[in-house]
Parts: sequence; C-alpha cells; structure tokens
Amino acid sequence: MCNLLLDTEIMQEIESFARKHSDDSFDHGWPHVMRVLHLAEKLAKMENANIYIVRTSALLHDIGRLYEKEQNENHALISARMAKELLDSLNVCENCVEEVIHAIKAHSFSLGIKPRTIEAKVLSDADKLDAIGAVGIIRAVMFNVKNNRDIDMMIQHFFDKLLTLKDLMNTESAKKLAEDRHQFMVEFIERLKKELAGT
Ligand code: NI
Repeated sequence: MCNLLLDTEIMQEIESFARKHSDDSFDHGWPHVMRVLHLAEKLAKMENANIYIVRTSALLHDIGRLYEKEQNENHALISARMAKELLDSLNVCENCVEEVIHAIKAHSFSLGIKPRTIEAKVLSDADKLDAIGAVGIIRAVMFNVKNNRDIDMMIQHFFDKLLTLKDLMNTESAKKLAEDRHQFMVEFIERLKKELAGT
C-alpha cells in the first residue's frame, strides 16, 4: 500500500469531496455515509481489514447517487469512476485505487459483483447493516413515502429484501451484528401486522 492514504490531509480531501457530492437525506445522503463509515471501521478492526482502504471506500461508495438519474447508470459505477478520478488526482497508487474501486463496485446490490477482498466484503456488509434494524425501518418508511407506496407494499419490501439481508453478509462479524438487527425487524413486522388487524 502507498503511504498517501495514511496522510490526514489527503483523507480530509477525500472526505470533503464525498461531503460535496452527498445531500443531507437520512436514507442515502451524508448521514448514511457516516453510519456506513463507522460500521465499516468497526468491521475492519474485527476482520483485520486495511482500515485506510475501507475508510476511503466507505466515504466514496455513494458519491454517484446524486447523478444516477441524469446519467441513467448504476450509482456504484458512477461512484467508482468519480473515485478513480479523485484518487488519481491525489496521486494515490494504482494498487490502492484498484482496491477502492473494486469495493465500491461490489457494494451494489443490483450490479451483482461479488466482493473478492476483505475490504470489499467489509464495505458491502456495512452498507447492508445500515439497511436493517431500527435505521432500516426508518429508511423503509422513507422509501415508501417518497414513492407513494401503500403499507402492504412496505411490508412486502421487508420480506422481499430487508429480511433476506442477514443471510447475504460476507463476514462472520457482520453476521453477528445482523442477527440482532434482523430480530428487531421481525418483532416490528409482527407487531405492525397485529396493530393493522386491530388486535
Ligand atoms: Ni450506501
């Protein structure tokens, strides 16, 4: 690994670039990036992953989101391209850039690229952990409201996607963290169904 990612000033540049290309929305904006960063750092320590690659990938993983509609392309591919341009301009070595780019591409659920490094696994797991548990419930409600969907469609979304995420975790550490968040969602859905039925 090159020393550049150890440099606090470079790390600050990366962070402010990421901030500039994120909005303030709870579900996909800067608050999400910060939650993913903290989860990813925690997992990186537990899994002995390279913390600098993980940190850089977490900060940059969603920078393409704001441009997804106008560019009509998967946000992870846009993020990967923007990240490469930024890191090249900061003279980060090719090896590190490649590791970060791979992690960013592999975090996307819809692209279907399998993470092949521990750093990519950690980022993918952190991003999925942020989609479940109490935060996951808030994000699901927000998604529902934004897209004018009814409550049955929201419940269906839990079964189609959110309740399957715990089995898609790559690392043992994330599997453990996911179990607790998963259980909370199961209890929430049971209670919601009861209340909707008037019992
Ligand atoms: Ni994300």
